Amino acid sequence: MSADILAIETSCDETAAAVVRDGRDCLGAAVSSQIDLHARFGGVVPEIASRSHQEAVNPIIDEALELAGVKLTRIDAIAVTRGPGLLGALIVGVATAKALAYGAGKPLIGVNHLEGHIFANFFTYPELKAPFIALVVSGGHTLLAGVETPGTYEVLGQTLDDAAGEAFDKVAAYLGLGYPGGPLLEKLAVDGNPEAIDFPRPMLKTPNYDFSLSGLKTAVLYYVNKKQAAGEELNLPDLAAGFQAAVIDVQVFKTIKAAEAKGAKTIVLAGGVAANQALKDRLGAEVAARGWRLFAPPLELCTDNAIMIGAAAWPKWLRRDFLGLDAEPDPNLKLTQ
Ligand code: KG4
Ligand code: ZN
Repeated sequence: MSADILAIETSCDETAAAVVRDGRDCLGAAVSSQIDLHARFGGVVPEIASRSHQEAVNPIIDEALELAGVKLTRIDAIAVTRGPGLLGALIVGVATAKALAYGAGKPLIGVNHLEGHIFANFFTYPELKAPFIALVVSGGHTLLAGVETPGTYEVLGQTLDDAAGEAFDKVAAYLGLGYPGGPLLEKLAVDGNPEAIDFPRPMLKTPNYDFSLSGLKTAVLYYVNKKQAAGEELNLPDLAAGFQAAVIDVQVFKTIKAAEAKGAKTIVLAGGVAANQALKDRLGAEVAARGWRLFAPPLELCTDNAIMIGAAAWPKWLRRDFLGLDAEPDPNLKLTQ
């Protein structure tokens, strides 16, 4: 049975809403980014995020419904990101979704934000079929998951400290480049030599699928301090290229290793860092060399959006997997929960 789902996403620094039909068609979508509000702090400030979501959430929902040309009364279900994310930010989305579900008498569907990132690929590529290995890399998360079916996940490994996007953001903030750091460093790296500076590849050789990025970030800071103390000029493109190459090397190596161990021939990239062309190119080359296939979402579906939440809600709608109106957000919600 067909369904138009109104999806709401407020887990971090974008307030987003979308109306998604059958997990496949976006009828209307709107996003309000808070990037400008957080930029001068070099990262997301939770209190500012929460307040800004409160201001933006209703207008963004109205905009998505208007673009879709669908009235709330004609919507079949309300879906919302329940976690993981910033608690104060998640509360705004979940409280709004509960109020709409209650007021309009519609079922409520809770979506895991990371599952949403993976579903950006199901939304984009109807031919994508599980099983596959997913590398989910964003500002808050870095994990490798085995996806058995849409909705059945095995977490193979994850970061023990910083997320990949967080490392990009922190290095960029330290260099005074701005926020978010990923796109800024990637742009600088285009003109740099990735081999000019030999940054460490933390946990490259550990016999597991976990990651660690804080040591790499510290290595970059030490390098910058040493250069500055010696009165030497920094070559920013080389620095950006060297840092980016170190992040990518470990991620690509572990993803391929996981796929080989699991016998998977399909790899899915997801999350904000999936916007990184150098990562897509490197992983794409390794995947193609083995005759496998790589899927990665278009840019606008890599970073946070509500279309991916509406797509992930669709199988839950089919299963009648609804939340009660007493549901609470969970900032630490696990992919396997
Ligand atoms: O998925 P997302 O929008 O939010 C979270 O769920 O965290 O990801 C945002 C993160 C930021 O840390 C940002 O720096 C990073 O994705 N990012 C990138 C690129 N574009 C965004 N990192 C590396 N290269 C990029 N081109
Ligand atoms: Zn995200």
